[in-house]
Amino acid sequence: MSQPLGTLSGGQRRRVELTRILFSDADVLLLDEPTNHLDADSIRWLRKYLGAYEGGFIVISHDTELLEDTVNKVWHLDANRQEIDLYSMGWKKYLLARETDEKRRKRERRNAQSQADTLRKQAEKMRAKATKAKAAQSMFKRADRILADTATELKKDNVAKLRFPTPKPCGRVPLMAENLSRSYGSLEVFTDVDLAIDRGSKVVILGLNGAGKTTMLRILAGVDQPDTGSRELGHGAIVGYYAQEHETLDPGATVWESLASAGSHLNDTQQRTVLGSFLFQGDAVHKPTGVLSGGEKTRLALACLVVSGANVLLLDEPTNNLDPASRAEVLNALALYEGAVVLVTHDPGAVRALNPERVLILPDGDEDLWSQDYIELIELA
Ligand SMILES: Nc1ncnc2c1ncn2[C@@H]1O[C@H](COP(=O)(O)OP(=O)(O)OP(=O)(O)O)[C@@H](O)[C@H]1O
Ligand SMILES: [Mg+2]
Repeated sequence: MSQPLGTLSGGQRRRVELTRILFSDADVLLLDEPTNHLDADSIRWLRKYLGAYEGGFIVISHDTELLEDTVNKVWHLDANRQEIDLYSMGWKKYLLARETDEKRRKRERRNAQSQADTLRKQAEKMRAKATKAKAAQSMFKRADRILADTATELKKDNVAKLRFPTPKPCGRVPLMAENLSRSYGSLEVFTDVDLAIDRGSKVVILGLNGAGKTTMLRILAGVDQPDTGSRELGHGAIVGYYAQEHETLDPGATVWESLASAGSHLNDTQQRTVLGSFLFQGDAVHKPTGVLSGGEKTRLALACLVVSGANVLLLDEPTNNLDPASRAEVLNALALYEGAVVLVTHDPGAVRALNPERVLILPDGDEDLWSQDYIELIELA
C-alpha cells in the first residue's frame, strides 16, 4: 500500500499499527486499547489471533469480549484503595472473584465501623471523669486505628455527569446535502449521496473501516469540501462536530482555553462548573490538550459540544476511549438530547442507545428507515 499513513482512515491506521506490532519479533506485546476504531471483522480477527498467540502480552482494554477470549491473568488497578490486585485467572472467573473480594471488604468495613462506634461511645462517657480521661483518649486512638486498617469506603467511580442542554431553536431541516461525491486520486469514496437531517432526528452512518464515514461527516461539518454537490445549513442551524481523532482540539490550547472558545458566553464560574462535571478539576484545567489521555480528550471535546448550543451533533465514534461508566453516561445523554444527531460508530450498544430513525450505509450511500436487522449488520460488519 503506497498511501501515506496520515491519510488512512482511523481503522485503517490502527490495522497498520497492529500489524507492525503483532508480527514483530518482540517477546512481550504491550497493547493499549487495540480494538478502538476497528470494525467488527477486524476485532474478531484480533480476538482469534490473540487467543491463539503463544507469546506473552499485556493488554489494556475496555472491550470485555476481547478480554474474555484472550487473557489468563488480570491486574485490577483499584483507584479507591490505590492498590493493584492480582488475579491469576481468566476474565469471567476474575469478575466473580472480585465481586467476592469486594463483598468481603464491605463486611470488614461494616464490622470495623461498628467496633469503632462502640469504642467511641464508651470513650465519650469516660472522658468526663478526670481519672479516666487518659484511658478514653487511648480508646479514641484505637477506634481511629481500626478504621484506618480497613479499606477506605468505596467512593463512587469518577464519572462525567452528562446532560446536553436544550438546543437553540432552528428550522425544520437544519442540514441538507445533495449529490455529494468525494474522491482521493483514483479512489472514489462515495458518489451522489443525498441526505436531509430533520430537526431532532437521529441518524446513524454505518460502513466498514475505510468506507468513507469520516469523510462524510467532515463534509457535513463544513471542514472539508465535496468534489461535487453541496451541503447547506437550514435556518438557525448550529452544527457541533466531534472528530474521530480529536482533530478539532487545538493541542497548544489549554483545557480552559478550549472550552472558552467553544462557549464564549460562559462566565468563569459556569466554565468551572462545566469542566468539573467533565472531571477536569484544579490544575488539570491548565494542561495543554496535546498532553491529555484519549479518554480526557474525548471528555473535553464533548464538553465543548455541550456548551456550543448546537442543534445538530455530528459524532464520529464518540464512545472510543471511554471507560464503561463514562460510555453509559454519554449514551444516556444522547438518548435524551432533543437536537438532531448523526452518529458514526462500530459500537452496537451506542446505536441501540440512540434508537435512530434512519440509517445511511456507506460507501453505497443507500438510506433506509432503521430496523433491528441493521444491528446485525454492525455486528457482522
Ligand atoms: N487525504 C486522503 N488522501 C488519500 N486517501 C484518503 C484521504 N483521506 C481518506 N482517505 C481514504 O478514503 C477512504 C475513506 O476514509 P474515511 O476516513 O472516511 O473512512 P471511515 O469510514 O471513517 O473509516 P474508519 O471506520 O476506519 O474510521 C479510506 O480508504 C482512506 O484511506
Ligand atoms: Mg472514520
